[in-house]
Amino acid sequence: MTHVLAIDQGTTSSRAILFGPDLGVVSVAQEEFPQHYPASGWVEHDPSDLWSTTAATARAAIEKAGARAADIAAIGITNQRETTLVWDRATGRPIHRAIVWQDRRTAPACHDLRAAGQEARVTETTGLLLDPYFSGTKLKWILDHVEGARARAERGELAFGTVDSWLVWNLTGGKVHVTDATNAARTMLYDIRRGRWSEEMCAMLEVPMALLPEVRDCAAEFGVTRADLFGREIPILGIAGDQQAATIGQACFAPGMMKSTYGTGCFALLNTGGDPVASKNRLLTTIAYQMEGKVTYALEGSIFVAGAVVQWLRDGLRMIRSATETQPLAEAADPGQDVVLVPAFTGLGAPYWNAECRGAIFGLTRNSGPEELARAALESVGFQTRDLLEAMRADWAGPGDTALRVDGGMSASDWTMQFLSDILGARVDRPRVVETTAMGAAWLAGQRAGIYPGMEEFALGWALERSFAPMMDPDARAARYARWQRAVAAAQAF
Ligand code: G3P
Repeated sequence: MTHVLAIDQGTTSSRAILFGPDLGVVSVAQEEFPQHYPASGWVEHDPSDLWSTTAATARAAIEKAGARAADIAAIGITNQRETTLVWDRATGRPIHRAIVWQDRRTAPACHDLRAAGQEARVTETTGLLLDPYFSGTKLKWILDHVEGARARAERGELAFGTVDSWLVWNLTGGKVHVTDATNAARTMLYDIRRGRWSEEMCAMLEVPMALLPEVRDCAAEFGVTRADLFGREIPILGIAGDQQAATIGQACFAPGMMKSTYGTGCFALLNTGGDPVASKNRLLTTIAYQMEGKVTYALEGSIFVAGAVVQWLRDGLRMIRSATETQPLAEAADPGQDVVLVPAFTGLGAPYWNAECRGAIFGLTRNSGPEELARAALESVGFQTRDLLEAMRADWAGPGDTALRVDGGMSASDWTMQFLSDILGARVDRPRVVETTAMGAAWLAGQRAGIYPGMEEFALGWALERSFAPMMDPDARAARYARWQRAVAAAQAF
């Protein structure tokens, strides 16, 4: 048994990646599934889609590699975080569609809790802010809106879970109801300092504790798969939320190390070591990983629109046919123009947390065209990352390599990464293996199974593909960032 199967259940697709004995990628399978938008600002997934695409891609990755279940030592799971599911323990049937992390339906509930003076306690206990992003208010919404749900939950008939819990439940044939500490930390129900579900948060959100899964380390025994799924029982030995798995895959194991992943959104995590750091700049305090009962914390900055801005150029404006056209367009932009795009399509995440703000474009002239818009779109990703890093620098007094390790789709764009380095005034390092999220999950499971090396040796294996150093003149950097800040302020004032 020399291989590990990583399951990466994301927001728009499910992926399965088979890793070989040397942690190299052997095969990849991917399947997209439908998004449901039942009302403005609402986003749902069909739980059966999450499960069926996961099972199908897992089988496909094994088949593609010509491998057998007997070759697989363990399964590691990584997943879109915060997305909320509730199902019937007896039948395994969900009582509602999954409410996705992007869903804003509980903004009024968050507003009411804030008005009632609850935010400070929420932050002290969970490290989070009162925002619809997290699972807690989504779970309350389901219990409030599905007839009889709360009473059934109180009787212990229902189970709540983030996507990892749902997948383990299905993989094990309904035998195991668990989660890991990183996913628990995103629910707004978990006390990240004490390492247990918070009675106070559950009472505040009227969530019966009988709903909650058992919380384990990121590398632990999470049960074995049903024998009929892959032809043999395979142990599930690793779980981490996708941004935490990327932090692990990027080997950000020392305090002060940080990574930024560019997918639909952008999520930057800074390892702060064994003590949680309370942010004074509206970042989240979260769990980076928990190994052998020991918690390592992180500061997280979450941006909701990064790669999604390129999707908007393609699907909204129909300006490009494929994402790869963006970089050449941006390179052809008129250097004399300074168009700024604030992509607050679904509000602003960290450090602003303004759910009501909407997107805006500044500095248009008669000569502004697709080239200038493409450049402004790519630059908006750099500016937003700078916002996060400014907040991190202000919150974090500990040691730190100032380099930022990047991954995710957009990190493939040299132009975008050079601009990122220019506007940050910091080095940006892109690794050779870009499957960082899946690799983090695979490593968790593989080292637990005893086929992959421990943390130190794994970290030594991290290899650089390309480093970007800042080339922008410091005065130009300051002027351009000040212009961005004015644009964000104006968008918020609109
Ligand atoms: O917090 C949300 C994040 O985990 C979603 O990640 O890659 O599925 O968009 P992704």
